[in-house]
Amino acid sequence: MQKLLILGTGGMAHTHAAAFAAIPDCKIVVAVDNNPDNLAQFCAEFGVETRFNDLADAIAWGEFDAALNVTPDPIHHPTTMALIAAGKHVFCEKPLAETYPLAKEMADGIEAKNLVGMVNLTYRNSAGIQLAHELVRDGEIGEVRHFEASYRQSWLVGNHWGDWQTEQRWLWRLSEAHGSLGVLGDVGIHILDFAGFAANSEVAEISCKLKTFHKAENDRIGDYPLDANDSAIMNIELKNGALGVIHASRFATGYANALKLVVHGTKGAVRVDLDQSWDHLDICRGDNVHTQAWERIKAPDVKTNYARFIDALNNGQTQDPSFRTAANLQKVLDLCVESDGLGKTIQI
Ligand SMILES: NC(=O)c1ccc[n+]([C@@H]2O[C@H](COP(=O)([O-])OP(=O)(O)OC[C@H]3O[C@@H](n4cnc5c(N)ncnc54)[C@H](O)[C@@H]3O)[C@@H](O)[C@H]2O)c1
Repeated sequence: MQKLLILGTGGMAHTHAAAFAAIPDCKIVVAVDNNPDNLAQFCAEFGVETRFNDLADAIAWGEFDAALNVTPDPIHHPTTMALIAAGKHVFCEKPLAETYPLAKEMADGIEAKNLVGMVNLTYRNSAGIQLAHELVRDGEIGEVRHFEASYRQSWLVGNHWGDWQTEQRWLWRLSEAHGSLGVLGDVGIHILDFAGFAANSEVAEISCKLKTFHKAENDRIGDYPLDANDSAIMNIELKNGALGVIHASRFATGYANALKLVVHGTKGAVRVDLDQSWDHLDICRGDNVHTQAWERIKAPDVKTNYARFIDALNNGQTQDPSFRTAANLQKVLDLCVESDGLGKTIQI
């Protein structure tokens, strides 16, 4: 039985708790949060008896094997480094850290101690994207020439996830001073991973344009200057020579949380649209390239990141997405900011 600590008991922690409750051989035995209300509500809902307000006290107590780090982005690095120092395996929320040097330190640290370190790049849970990865890897669409990927949210316009103007939990996502890298840091890592994983290659060269739109009086709410980017557009060349574009936005009115991807090769193309299905993909191949007909394929079931983390704990082998994968993606995100500032293309 893997004994789990959950660090951070806000919104996403509820998803973790429900997911790990459905997996055999593991149990959340302790919860930690410096917000006593969130902690009490979470522990009551999920029946967790042992709780601490401070991670240092939980580490001193020590009766757990691995930690689920579900704190806000800027808290991931210091808390994960403390957990690594204490010899604990870590399943960390994305992005791994706010910058590549911090993310690299986390990846180096966990590998040096031979601990399991995985990152919750949620969209790897889609059977459709896993099958796209395999088909492209196995040459089913020939050499990859192009890809087009988008991650569209609209919570700055619609109230479907609450009200960012009045609810504290949204504000850190809007303010650089509070550790946010904007839409780039929040979902840029998801869509970069989604595209690179399906196209089976890494970024070689990138040019990025970021934009922060006007959205409140003086672009400020209380202590929070609303200065984090809302939209990111990337032009990318991959190491396999493919050219692609990625768009991520929180102002994509009409979409709640939509990820779409098309990868075009010399012998065919694959398309994944998570609004349509998490476990299907469309493929155009063979003679269909002459008529542009697409066939819908049901992908075989895949394990979630949560289940694969428990497998990794059981057999001592880190699986992807690892800390290293997430650190390498963080490097690309850092270069997006640099490219935007300099207004030019940057090679990795
Ligand atoms: N993988 C995904 O699809 C996905 C989806 C949503 C959020 N996330 C990530 O999950 C993380 C948490 O997001 P959220 O929406 O749950 O945020 P949230 O603000 O709702 O919850 C964060 C919790 O962490 C607590 N916390 C902050 N500092 C702490 C500290 N030093 N020690 C202990 N507890 C601390 C807060 O009190 C809060 O209860 C973020 O990194 C976010 O990017 C990932």
